[in-house]
Amino acid sequence: MATITFSSPIMKRDKTVYAVAGNTDTILGLAEEHGIPIPFECRDGNCGSCLIEVTYLEDKPKMAVALTEKEKARLKELKKVTQKEITEAEVNDLPPHYRLACQYIARHEDIRITFTGEPGGA
Ligand code: FES
Repeated sequence: MATITFSSPIMKRDKTVYAVAGNTDTILGLAEEHGIPIPFECRDGNCGSCLIEVTYLEDKPKMAVALTEKEKARLKELKKVTQKEITEAEVNDLPPHYRLACQYIARHEDIRITFTGEPGGA
């Protein structure tokens, strides 16, 4: 099970939700389901509105860190990820700090998601 804590200055307090094994909802989908106001527009990795910062709360190896091609391109354009970080994610499963909520599916990991509430303003 993944434990996901959402935090933003536009929320009264942090909110923790759980994603059960096999859940393939994106972070954006989980946020919507629980009334967490991550900004979004396209839902397809194109606009960058759903930019989030991810902090991993467990010090355990990550598995299969996968970014979609759209996510890589948009994060690079926003200057939120370098080519080196993309390579580290693909080769060594070292996840980047910034992701797109509409492209990111949490696995068995405890994470903290922060966002400003401004589109693209994680
Ligand atoms: Fe447009 Fe996620 S909503 S990139």
